[in-house]
Amino acid sequence: MAAVPADPQPQSPVPNHLAIIMDGNGRWARQRALPRASGHKAGIKPVRATVEYCAAHGVGQLTLFAFSSENWKRPPEEVRGLMRLFLEALDREVDELDRNGIRLAFIGDRGKLSPGLDAAARRAERRTARNSRMQLTIAVAYGGRWDIVQAARKLAGEVAIGALEPSAINEARFARALETAELPPVDLLIRTGGEQRISNFLIWDMAYSELYFSDVLWPAFDTAELERAFALYAQRQRRFGRTGEQIEAANC
Ligand code: FPP
Repeated sequence: MAAVPADPQPQSPVPNHLAIIMDGNGRWARQRALPRASGHKAGIKPVRATVEYCAAHGVGQLTLFAFSSENWKRPPEEVRGLMRLFLEALDREVDELDRNGIRLAFIGDRGKLSPGLDAAARRAERRTARNSRMQLTIAVAYGGRWDIVQAARKLAGEVAIGALEPSAINEARFARALETAELPPVDLLIRTGGEQRISNFLIWDMAYSELYFSDVLWPAFDTAELERAFALYAQRQRRFGRTGEQIEAANC
């Protein structure tokens, strides 16, 4: 028998799970005749401002796309510079994140990270594991297709040893095999930098997310732009396949 869908929930004006594609660092640097690395470095400030704003405004989950499966194709010195920047930022910020009750998590293909970055990520996760004000998830070496394939492989392995019946694989069981198993669906995706695409981010988790494309380059992103995104999000009627009348009745 098909599962009965849950009643629609009254919509919150603030997304519970906000995901961001931080694009435009390179162009921001080029406009200033600076190396691309300066654009990435300048991208740290809006990360900090966004984390503070989200934690203060009741966002439960903030997921940032820091480095995709496809970003390995960039010039090796840019890749090395980005990995160094992540490690430095982690070392510098973890105390303050912890003090502010923020839990850190990493998703992605850990085996591709340097041992130093992988170890630092694990230390930060352990250190902040009990915090509950907001979870900040950093997607590094992450790709939505990679995640779906690794989940399928995991389930196929269970089927092969007789631990799982193929007929027991449904959406909920599949979602539990993803790297994002602990994360709720994305409510709002923001992409900066003017492009209007999803670029292999959380493709399973964004099936019903609202999208906000900003022309602002990531290093120039600020809380005013975040407020605009939240204001537009609050006006959207999320129907999840239902009718507008059903949603209005649930909100009464
Ligand atoms: C995309 O801009 C940005 C990246 C691949 C790196 C994102 C990294 C940061 C914002 C640094 C701080 C992050 C954390 C989590 C500490 P791009 O290089 O593709 O820009 P372009 O499209 O203008 O070339």
